[in-house]
Amino acid sequence: MNSAVGPAKSLLSGTWLEHPLHPLLTDLPIGCWSGAVILDLFGGSAAADAVDPLVGLGALAAVPAVVSGLSDWADSYGPERRVGLVHAAANVTGLGLFAASMVAGHRSARRLRLLGLAAVSAGGYLGGHLSFGRGVGVDHQAFLEKPGEWTDALAADSLEEATPTFAEAGGARVMLFRRGTQIYAISDVCPHAAGPLHEGTVDDELCVTCPWHGSRFRLSDGRAVHGPASAPATVYQARVEHGKVQVRAV
Ligand code: FES
Repeated sequence: MNSAVGPAKSLLSGTWLEHPLHPLLTDLPIGCWSGAVILDLFGGSAAADAVDPLVGLGALAAVPAVVSGLSDWADSYGPERRVGLVHAAANVTGLGLFAASMVAGHRSARRLRLLGLAAVSAGGYLGGHLSFGRGVGVDHQAFLEKPGEWTDALAADSLEEATPTFAEAGGARVMLFRRGTQIYAISDVCPHAAGPLHEGTVDDELCVTCPWHGSRFRLSDGRAVHGPASAPATVYQARVEHGKVQVRAV
């Protein structure tokens, strides 16, 4: 299930920003194109000269939005992948209609822009459904339990050296990793799409790579050093007490 990782993926996913990039990039084209249609409807002849520059700026700004959206879509499956395809088709149709309006005659151009805004609005609705209805792009740790007090997770002698190990502590799903006497504890739920981090690999730089799409998180502070994840993974303090590995939220 691994997808391509690396600087381009991290850039397009918003890993560097610690926030999904695609939703931010859609604001400018939607704003420009909405403004152009509002000027068509209410601006009169005095506003006509401002319409084409707004449409052109929106089309330019749509390019990175499309590229980042394609990058997100490449990591999707099942219903999310199908809805994402229709979302993309609606938005690319809108882009085409707005671009066509720049070379059409006056009356046709206004109709094309109205149709373009309708297509982009439908695409926006589906984008909202993907996020708020299907959880695409949300931090999958947002609603998880995080024990605030020291909580037993595992018998200490069950935690083998340099082996990612799953444990539950007070309802929290945790990945434990021991190197010598140092124990790391990080949420087992990948923020990107809830992949099980204990099934991933830990490298010499003490980063765990998610088995689903290849996001890479530092065990010491949870920072995502490679996307597609944009949110950091939750880390816990860990100690051994009375023969048990215990964890608590930092
Ligand atoms: S679930 Fe996608 S990178 Fe972990």
